[in-house]
Amino acid sequence: MKFHKAPTLFLVILSLISATNSMGSSHGPNKGGYWPSWSIDLPPSAIDTTLFTHLYYAFLIPNNITFKFEIDDPTALLLKNFTTTLHEKKPSIKTLFSIGGGLVGPKLFSRMALGHDSRKSFILSTIEVARKFGFDGVDLDWEFPQTPIDMVNFGHLIHEWRVEVKKEAKSTGKPELLLSAATYYKPEVTLDNVYRKYPVESINKNLDWINAMCYDYHGSWDLSTTGTLAALYDPNSKVSTSDGLESWIKGKIHREKLVMGLPLYGRTWQLKDPSLYGIGAPAVDVGPGDEGQMLYADVEKFNVKNNAKVVFDFPTVSVYSVAGVSWIGYDDVRSVKIKIEYAQELKIGGYFFWAVNGDQEWKISRKVRLCSDHFYARKGEEESCIAIYLYVKYTKVVKRLYRKVD
Ligand SMILES: *[C@@H]1O[C@H](CO)[C@@H](O)[C@H](O)[C@H]1NC(C)=O
Ligand SMILES: *[C@@H]1O[C@H](CO)[C@@H](O)[C@H](O)[C@H]1NC(C)=O
Repeated sequence: MKFHKAPTLFLVILSLISATNSMGSSHGPNKGGYWPSWSIDLPPSAIDTTLFTHLYYAFLIPNNITFKFEIDDPTALLLKNFTTTLHEKKPSIKTLFSIGGGLVGPKLFSRMALGHDSRKSFILSTIEVARKFGFDGVDLDWEFPQTPIDMVNFGHLIHEWRVEVKKEAKSTGKPELLLSAATYYKPEVTLDNVYRKYPVESINKNLDWINAMCYDYHGSWDLSTTGTLAALYDPNSKVSTSDGLESWIKGKIHREKLVMGLPLYGRTWQLKDPSLYGIGAPAVDVGPGDEGQMLYADVEKFNVKNNAKVVFDFPTVSVYSVAGVSWIGYDDVRSVKIKIEYAQELKIGGYFFWAVNGDQEWKISRKVRLCSDHFYARKGEEESCIAIYLYVKYTKVVKRLYRKVD
């Protein structure tokens, strides 16, 4: 199927659908990227800042007893270098430091958020660090609140945080610090069979936006079958980016505060039988890469080197490559473009990448910019963008028809 040749019938249907299409607020879309501070071969000066509006330093971790940050000298230099370099390259860029991350257990934050005093100690320390090193804001990456009580405390924390940053801005005359949080891909979490839900009302009131982590739907924690890392749709389960984002919207998040995560890495499996290689094929172990993970740039290299078969899976809007028994699920330029179009249809706040070191030639980020700028600006015509746009409309129409049949 040639991607940009749309059947006539569906063109007619499309023309009947209103084409109002925008993402974000009057400030334009939030285009974020996390910079892992351990990416030695990608210093801040090598980040193409034209592609982003927000860049996150990942990560800082507070002391697990005082909940304050203790910054050693090399880290201090790096923090200062990050904000100075990026602001020099692009004065309008917003820099945030991100706290926590996937490798920090959730218990640290659970203990910090439990009491008023520990929250206050943490909050004041975040403000001090942000100002000292020239950041525009702070991002909390608590993966993930584990209980309903954690979720309540998360709500208290962001409320008190907002009060303090307002107060600080007033007394110093500086612009108020931005506050964001990286969250689960949907508002209701049932991991470990404990039901808990993010405090959406408090998020709307107190955070500037959330980065919904729309990836890691399948991975090395289930080696029995291959699976998609970040499917937009999943015909066989509800675990998908469309389900996550639509759940946040149903959960009443303000749309402009919702930012969609995009992975710049792949997850790998070792197939049981190289002739059975679809999504959900039997697997026996992790595949190539680092414990079943591989940066997008390395996936591309691996595919070329091993003459891999690359399959774009339309129903899920995801990509996988197969070489012998090696199987890699990931996102490429095309799947990311479709997701961004989808996000624009939903009128959410923007997108972010985990992480910028995965795409050092900026293949995805650059192509995506062309497309998204085109649609925000509504001027100029770029053929592939139109094709993507039609595809998303088409998928919606098909979904609607299916629903009617049900
Ligand atoms: C705090 O961190 C220290 C040093 O890493 C560790 O030994 C200790 O067990 C941690 N305490 C708690 C309560 O997690
Ligand atoms: C940041 O660090 C790089 C590499 O260490 C250095 O070349 C550059 O001058 C530094 N920039 C700033 C603004 O400190």
